[in-house]
Amino acid sequence: MADGAKPVLDVRGLQTVFRTRGGDIHAVNSVSFHLKPGELLGVVGESGSGKSVTMMSLIGLLPMPPAEVRAGEVLLGDTDILKISAEELQKVRGRRIGFVFQDPMTSLNPVFTVGNQVMEPLRWHMGMNKKQAFARAVELLDLVGIPDAARRMKDYPHQFSGGMRQRVMIAIALACDPEVLIADEPTTALDVTIQAQIIELVKELRTKLGMAIVWITHDLGVIAGIADRVMVMYGGQVVEQGPVAELFANPQHPYTRALLKTIPSVTGERETRLKVIEGQPPILGAAPSACPFMPRCAHSFARCAVENPPRRPIGRAEVGWGHDVACHWDARSGGPHA
Ligand SMILES: Nc1ncnc2c1ncn2[C@@H]1O[C@H](COP(=O)(O)OP(=O)(O)O)[C@@H](O)[C@H]1O
Ligand SMILES: [Mg+2]
Repeated sequence: MADGAKPVLDVRGLQTVFRTRGGDIHAVNSVSFHLKPGELLGVVGESGSGKSVTMMSLIGLLPMPPAEVRAGEVLLGDTDILKISAEELQKVRGRRIGFVFQDPMTSLNPVFTVGNQVMEPLRWHMGMNKKQAFARAVELLDLVGIPDAARRMKDYPHQFSGGMRQRVMIAIALACDPEVLIADEPTTALDVTIQAQIIELVKELRTKLGMAIVWITHDLGVIAGIADRVMVMYGGQVVEQGPVAELFANPQHPYTRALLKTIPSVTGERETRLKVIEGQPPILGAAPSACPFMPRCAHSFARCAVENPPRRPIGRAEVGWGHDVACHWDARSGGPHA
């Protein structure tokens, strides 16, 4: 995770639009981020901010139409995976990039045994025979903490609890030893204790397997505990990004600052999270010419209405790392940026 290491994944200027009868929805607007080897990037932002569409765009999981990736590059190593054929992308997906989504489209199939579903990527991507795939699948289920793994291979998804099913999903995502794991709110549907167990599992696997991870969540408390860097999204854009300690200590964007105030207290009032920010997220009918957060922002001024702020580096020498924010207001001076 050395700071100078070449990114395993480098996303540049990604733009995704949904073409609907009611007009275009600009779900992802010029999103850029990268991931260094072994790094865990936390992605936060309230519902509808474009987190899932960003990740699904880059591995080609969006239905096209209505989705259209209009611009951008997604470099996996040296290959732009937006430019490769559907067949080639299929070889990347699940092999070099593993993913766990909340979306039912990508979750377990109720009509096949769990064993079958863990064996599938091993046979398809790794060319293993049945016997090899079976043995490796048992190992994987064991790795993600499923008791009595060999016996459970022939069980169906409904015979597993929600937490155990999510462990199976993680086993499938890890099956081919991917360079990158994308986890999109993988614990949201689980109760708090199981959530904590899954998070512990991912921390442990990350140390063991050394892959880079994108972890999307509503829960800033989780991010604080596991991420190296945090990316904050709002209105289909990245509004702030930085090393986790720096971002928590010196949040710059008014949206990030508001989000941090919503971290549930240790007394466990979780339902208050994110909802305390007044106002509505934007409707993304056009690529924004103003700051998308302006209507909810306590610090906005005239410029915010006419210019969508670009991301500006504000990294401090003291922390030596990149921290950037897309805002015309300077949190440090309390006035406009010079
Ligand atoms: N199939 C679709 N058709 C039209 N709009 C969509 C579709 N899927 C997502 N969107 C829009 O894209 C935006 C971003 O959604 P999403 O990435 O799912 O948000 P998040 O994951 O941050 O909650 C939302 O405004 C949503 O309404
Ligand atoms: Mg989502």
